[in-house]
Amino acid sequence: MSKILLLGCGNMGGALLKAWAANTDHLFTVADPAKPELPENVSQVGSVEELGEDIFDYLIVALKPQLIDEVLPTYIPRLDPSGVISSIAAGYSAEKLAAHAPGRSVIRIMPNLPAVIGKGVSGLYAHGTVPETASSEIERLALCSGEIVWVDNEDMLDRLTAVAGSGPGYVFEMLRAYVEAAEELGFCEKDAKNLVLGTVRGTLDLALQSDSSLEDLRKNVTSKGGTTAAGLDALNGNGEYSELIRNTLQAAYQRATELR
Ligand SMILES: NC(=O)c1ccc[n+]([C@@H]2O[C@H](COP(=O)([O-])OP(=O)(O)OC[C@H]3O[C@@H](n4cnc5c(N)ncnc54)[C@H](OP(=O)(O)O)[C@@H]3O)[C@@H](O)[C@H]2O)c1
Repeated sequence: MSKILLLGCGNMGGALLKAWAANTDHLFTVADPAKPELPENVSQVGSVEELGEDIFDYLIVALKPQLIDEVLPTYIPRLDPSGVISSIAAGYSAEKLAAHAPGRSVIRIMPNLPAVIGKGVSGLYAHGTVPETASSEIERLALCSGEIVWVDNEDMLDRLTAVAGSGPGYVFEMLRAYVEAAEELGFCEKDAKNLVLGTVRGTLDLALQSDSSLEDLRKNVTSKGGTTAAGLDALNGNGEYSELIRNTLQAAYQRATELR
């Protein structure tokens, strides 16, 4: 059982904490002046002064990145000299975290939005030499909110952010456009949404359960000269959809490198 301090407990920090508190026996303390609603058995302070003499094994940063330089240094003395600093903040490098906490291990976690319902995909990156116990513990926490992928350098974490961290935004936009097009074909908003979300959910479940490749699955539903073939020809006949997705991920990755 470890003592874990969560610094900042808003939308993402709060959702992760709920999963961690429900699935582990660690002692959690939240530091957040906003005084959010918390799971039972989680202590809460509004400032570092309210922490008393407590020293923590893990300090997990869930602040907006622009606040980290101002807020984190005041909490560092509360992290054990052999403790671990972890962060879910996008675009705040492990190097910068390490500079705030010399001698401590640093592990970044990059969750994505479905983590709030336990169905996220998180990227994990251990900076420098990190003890096995620390990486296992952070891995266990990350697994509470879905699947995980370890990467072995920070550039790959930026690439993972472009694929999975920003991914829910792309998917929401695709769904919105799909529903809008269904409405233009004559369905009311409710029916259009049910048709699109039901189709996407069913197709996704099928893809997850199937041993076939995505390409084979697509070929199996596409008869020559049929309706699906006509739709696919408009969608990606000349590779324009593939190009769009490629450009989308590249633009997000480019932005992640600028934010380093
Ligand atoms: N949301 C996502 O989908 C997502 C995905 C991946 C990574 N992340 C990362 O997660 C981090 C948090 O994002 P979020 O969406 O959870 O933001 P958020 O809802 O704004 O949460 C940040 C929390 O920190 C609190 N805070 C402000 N000043 C503080 C201080 N001095 N001491 C302690 N706490 C303080 C905020 O309180 P106030 O509201 O009163 O300011 C708020 O409760 C960000 O770095 C983001 O990059 C988010």
